[in-house]
Amino acid sequence: MLDFGYYNMDCMDGMKQFPDKYFDLAIVDPPYGIKVKNNMGRRHGTKKSEYPKAYWDKTAPPPEYFTELFRVAKHSIIWGGNYFNLPPAKCFVIWDKPDKSENVSFAMCEYAWTDFDMTAKIFRRYAKDDCRIHATQKPVDLYEWLLGIFAKKGDRILDTHVGSASSLIACHKMGFQYVGFELDKYYFDLSNKRLEQEKAQMSLFDFMGGGSTETEARQSEIDLHMFSVSSGE
Ligand SMILES: C[S@@+](CC[C@H](N)C(=O)[O-])C[C@H]1O[C@@H](n2cnc3c(N)ncnc32)[C@H](O)[C@@H]1O
Repeated sequence: MLDFGYYNMDCMDGMKQFPDKYFDLAIVDPPYGIKVKNNMGRRHGTKKSEYPKAYWDKTAPPPEYFTELFRVAKHSIIWGGNYFNLPPAKCFVIWDKPDKSENVSFAMCEYAWTDFDMTAKIFRRYAKDDCRIHATQKPVDLYEWLLGIFAKKGDRILDTHVGSASSLIACHKMGFQYVGFELDKYYFDLSNKRLEQEKAQMSLFDFMGGGSTETEARQSEIDLHMFSVSSGE
């Protein structure tokens, strides 16, 4: 079995290495098969992109991907759930982007399917990463918010399609153990560097005596979310 960490490999090969229900929560964002443009977000796509051609978005994952995902994970949150053949969801998640207007080619909101027996949720905060390295990068804040609601202390987290590593950075910041896969070597190298930089910054923070405060603050955040989820607030 693979150890916790981030791997430059096909997630189908990666998931095979793990026993049934090994992960408490999978938060995944597979290709939607909509041939995403690498100049997404530019005003009607006029400006040249800073990202390499998104060849990875030609096809959505095959049904075997979802079978394997549901085998290894107890719970799943699947971005782009509107593009895949999934069962009806009571608890879906909307990422509402208040900064997006109809003049840009970005969607004004995004949908994630979940298998949780909770009420539907909306992430409505404006959230932007300073460091953008991927055409379909989601903000670290969004992943932190998801982990705060849907994960509990000690959970093992899986991301099968890491991209920019926003998910893994959120896991690291909140003290969750994770496994992540990214097939594309270019994106793997870039995002691994981003992740390592984040970890180094946090170690420096710890060294300077701020670590326990941040860790405690994160834990209180998780505890608070768990309290409000279990008490239905
Ligand atoms: C929609 S993007 C993920 C974006 C990510 N959520 C983020 O915030 O940056 C999908 C990623 O999956 C990768 N990918 C495609 N097929 C894969 C596979 N079979 N195994 C692992 N990664 C794959 C692509 O290279 C791409 O970076």
